[in-house]
Amino acid sequence: MSENQKNKKRVIILFGGRAAEHSISCISAGSVLRAIDRDRFEPIPVAITKEGQWVLPDVDPRNWNLGDGAMPEVNMTDESRPIMIDMAKGADGFFALLPGDNKAGSAAIGIGVLGDMTAGDVEDTDCEWLGHIDAVFPVLHGEYGEDGAVQGLLETIGVPYVGCGILASAVCMDKHFTKILLRAAGIPVTLGVTFDARLFDQASHFKENADEIFSAVAAVGLRYPLFVKPAWGGSSIGVTKVERQEDLVAALYAAYPYSWRILVEQGIDGREIECAVLSTNPLAEPRTAWPGEIVLDHKQSEGDEFYDFDAKYTDSSASHVEVPAKLPPKMLQKIRDVAVRAFSAVDGVGLMRVDTFVQEDGTVLVNELNTMPGFTSISMYPKAWAASGIDYQTVITELIDSVAR
Ligand SMILES: Nc1ncnc2c1ncn2[C@@H]1O[C@H](COP(=O)(O)OP(=O)(O)O)[C@@H](O)[C@H]1O
Ligand SMILES: [Mg+2]
Repeated sequence: MSENQKNKKRVIILFGGRAAEHSISCISAGSVLRAIDRDRFEPIPVAITKEGQWVLPDVDPRNWNLGDGAMPEVNMTDESRPIMIDMAKGADGFFALLPGDNKAGSAAIGIGVLGDMTAGDVEDTDCEWLGHIDAVFPVLHGEYGEDGAVQGLLETIGVPYVGCGILASAVCMDKHFTKILLRAAGIPVTLGVTFDARLFDQASHFKENADEIFSAVAAVGLRYPLFVKPAWGGSSIGVTKVERQEDLVAALYAAYPYSWRILVEQGIDGREIECAVLSTNPLAEPRTAWPGEIVLDHKQSEGDEFYDFDAKYTDSSASHVEVPAKLPPKMLQKIRDVAVRAFSAVDGVGLMRVDTFVQEDGTVLVNELNTMPGFTSISMYPKAWAASGIDYQTVITELIDSVAR
């Protein structure tokens, strides 16, 4: 190892994952790997397949881009090298097996069944130590990555990591509980009602439960259009705008594959303004970037469209971001204040994107909190910082420097 390499912080860039946003995470990680300051850091890309296997990928994530057509995906192949973690060794406990060692389970990797181990088996175990890991950057979106699960694993083995801890990650992954904490902190959120769809009749696609659903919606005073969404979801997957009562039950059923807890919310006629928060010193007030706006460029029919999956990722002409949002300075400041309060209300650490609806009368409603916001170089989070004087590479550097040891 050269002297130069020794001084670099070694950071696992963890990406992919078991969630529906696997591909988005791959693209975010590709951007991070392109931008990271290689004079200061030695990034080690580690991918998680959709099945949950951790591997050194056999592809270079830097080649992945949004708009390339096919969405990237990491699979276990003959070339990929499975990762093993020795829990007790903590930050020194990461190992990579040789390619192909994944084929036949424990026998192939030279690890005998406990009690059946011979010296030969141990020597056959071609497992390479990844060296000391100074930090992990979980560039993971959605379940098992952004929800406190990976954070809990890293806490357990004692490896520092970028971003929110277990509590904030878990709370923000669930839109129902996010709203409870925000409301308790006096931060306005969208009116709505939450259902436990496990209690509904699957066989009838919830049709049997229609009356009870309609009356619960009426009881809180919701008026159409409504938005139906899974409590833990992302990228607008499973989200439906519902214009008429006849379509409500089908929308709940459509959200159910993603989460049994389902929110039905008042449709808000407002602008979607997002505020990036960066906090690299727990003793200082979190910093906020200029709030940015998602502007939808082609609405097929007025009022019919929202910021859905295609607008976010597959159709680059569908929307663009504007930073700062075209709002009066006082309004921008109000949104930044709300963002700081929301970040603190859920015990945020490191980074967060606070998504709001800003209504005509100046009301700022917090819609959701993202603890690992889209992180490609063209995503709102890095773009908002760039427009506020902190470039993408510096954001990455600050986030890692604040935790690495
Ligand atoms: N209550 C609502 N009123 C109006 N639009 C909404 C509402 N809830 C969600 N949306 C629209 O749906 C999109 C996705 O919903 P969101 O709550 O942000 O979930 P996700 O985690 O999938 O991004 C939002 O960006 C917005 O365009
Ligand atoms: Mg959103």
